[in-house]
Amino acid sequence: MAFTGELQENEEEKLIISLPREKGWAVPYVYLFQDFWYPSHAIQGVINSQKYFQAKDGDVIVASFPKSGTTWLKALTFAIVNRQHFSSHKNHPLLASNPHQLVPFLHHIFFGDFHDQISNMAEPRLFGTHVPFPSLPKSIQESNCKVIYICRNPFDTFIYFWYFFNKIKPETSPELTMEEGFERYCKGLIEFGPWWNHMLCYWKESIDRPNKVLFLKYEDLKDDISFHVKRVAEFLGCPFTQDEEISGVIESVINLSSFEKMKDLEVNKSGTTVLNIEKKYFFRKAEVGDWVNYFSLPMRETLSKIIEDKLSGSGLSFKTCP
Ligand code: A3P
Repeated sequence: MAFTGELQENEEEKLIISLPREKGWAVPYVYLFQDFWYPSHAIQGVINSQKYFQAKDGDVIVASFPKSGTTWLKALTFAIVNRQHFSSHKNHPLLASNPHQLVPFLHHIFFGDFHDQISNMAEPRLFGTHVPFPSLPKSIQESNCKVIYICRNPFDTFIYFWYFFNKIKPETSPELTMEEGFERYCKGLIEFGPWWNHMLCYWKESIDRPNKVLFLKYEDLKDDISFHVKRVAEFLGCPFTQDEEISGVIESVINLSSFEKMKDLEVNKSGTTVLNIEKKYFFRKAEVGDWVNYFSLPMRETLSKIIEDKLSGSGLSFKTCP
């Protein structure tokens, strides 16, 4: 069934207006929908994808809390899954397109006229999402398609959020101060937040269904990328062969997706991607622990306490937090 146009859009607009709302970061408001805070366009994408998206068993969903390593995981997943089609770097799509174009967000596709885009996608289809697990289309949850999730220590995630949204905000909007951003972040009032519930729903699913959801942390990838590239390939059912290992295919995937390589590509230095966001803003420092350069002692104590309150007992922790 296809998107039916105006009548439905009006129904969604009415629904959105009826939802609790708070000030957003890059958008005027975020709305509380299915227990998480969303920009309005994302709600429309989520509703449509819940209604119309049919997952295939071979699909791969690259899921993340925003600003946690999404771009990197999209690049790595694309390079791993397609390695047989592009055995040398020459003409590799990652050299000509930004990872957000190669692995489009499902909720963006379903915000627009999705029919053509979905039907023209090569298989295996790779989709990105920031949508929490319980709100993913049922066909994703119930089919054999795979979900790879990445998150990051909440200290670094906050810094990048604050940096990024001040870069992409409309010129006419005032800068969001770190104090104001931090206050909202600590209340979970952030696009796709609360961040602790976002992480926990994927964490729980990865424990209950380890063959369905692979849970990754940005810091762990930085620590040992080779191990994680192999882990992702095994999880997706396409492990590296001994020949591939010997001939350096793993290193080639790592180099192609590396921060230094990607940040330097012309395609990532200029132009815009989804929602008209300048691609260069997806690449900042790629350093673990940069938060120490920004956090005051009270901020550090406040966030540590929230992490302890929200994550204790779950088994989820971040070794790079104080
Ligand atoms: P920093 O804040 O440390 O610079 P997302 O892609 O979810 O927006 O995550 C952004 C973080 O990932 C930023 O970290 C960004 O610089 C970093 N990043 C982007 N591309 C990367 C890559 N190829 N490898 C490692 N980190 C990358």
